Amino acid sequence: MYNSRILGAGHYVPERIVTNEDLSKMMNTSNEWIVERTGIQERRWYTPGVDTVTNMSAKASRLAMERSKTAPEEIDFIIFATITSDYFLPGNGVLLQRELGLKSIGALDIRNACSGFIYALSVADQFIKTGMYKKILVVGAEIQSSALDKSDEGRSSAVIFADGAGAVILGRAENDHPGILSTHLHSEGAHAEELYCIAPSSSGKVRISQEMIERGDFFLKMNGNAVFKHAVVRFMEVIQEALSHNGVSKEEIDLLVPHQANLRISQYIQQKLQLPDEKVFNNIMYLGNTTAGTIPIALSQAWEQGRLKDGDLVCLAAFGSGFAWASALLRW
Ligand code: UT7
Repeated sequence: MYNSRILGAGHYVPERIVTNEDLSKMMNTSNEWIVERTGIQERRWYTPGVDTVTNMSAKASRLAMERSKTAPEEIDFIIFATITSDYFLPGNGVLLQRELGLKSIGALDIRNACSGFIYALSVADQFIKTGMYKKILVVGAEIQSSALDKSDEGRSSAVIFADGAGAVILGRAENDHPGILSTHLHSEGAHAEELYCIAPSSSGKVRISQEMIERGDFFLKMNGNAVFKHAVVRFMEVIQEALSHNGVSKEEIDLLVPHQANLRISQYIQQKLQLPDEKVFNNIMYLGNTTAGTIPIALSQAWEQGRLKDGDLVCLAAFGSGFAWASALLRW
């Protein structure tokens, strides 16, 4: 058995900044409502014809490779978490493999939405632990803004979701560094329709039809209130599970990186765990909710800001569509 460790992280977000003022010109909303209910002031949305899930994730991956001093030929495998791949098929893993010019390594796609990156990290961890692979590129990237209903009807989701990409290199740890201590994965499909997107659907007569377009089946649909209520409970449970599993107390956490769903959710968890501000990483204020992208983007930014040091105890936690939720406890 080997230990796995995050060797470096990188991220990329589109250049286009969309402010709350911009949104209030598209739908009946206001800066006050968005800031008060979500904490978001601005977010990044892609530019059609410029940004793709593939090219954004390639930029994030190159940075992660540079920071971890990983040469392209050292990467043994790709795990790509996204629910918004550039094509319906094939998945984004192979598109990234091509974009980066990597040799014919395996590429796996994971579709667990907001918890997708932690699921991906967990799978990568198993491959490293067994010795099958030494270095894995683990990515979380999304373009959500093209699936948002920007009319009054879709306003509760349109104001929170955004676009961006993050990547880490997970590698075999050296010198007994503990790296990833544990990961914890859960789901409850009974709530699948609380946050979902119907089209393109394989089980209808056709995957996309005029009727489906007119009904807006390709828009993300969310019962925000229900998701919020389940999120706060599951976040706490899965963080507690990670702490108990490793016999560590909440006071020992150096940095909690929660999925950036809503600043009020992060603040609720922070308050329950009684963590000071410097121990919780939030960037939702200026990046919004980038689904599978939030955690690797946050790790990259936290590292840039000097908030992640060798040996720090880091807790990752996420909850979202599925419902699916997860946590990871690791030593940086
Ligand atoms: O990342 C994946 C998982 N996702 C999440 O974890 C998201 C969880 N949910 C949330 O973050 C919040 O539920 C939202 C931000 C989506 C919505 O906030 P809320 O405080 O739960 O609002 P609400 O849906 O209960 O709506 C309250 C009121 C309603 O008006 P009435 O019925 O009280 O008159 C909504 O129509 O706010 C209205 N509203 C808005 N008003 C202005 C909903 N969205 C907006 C908006 N601007 N954008």
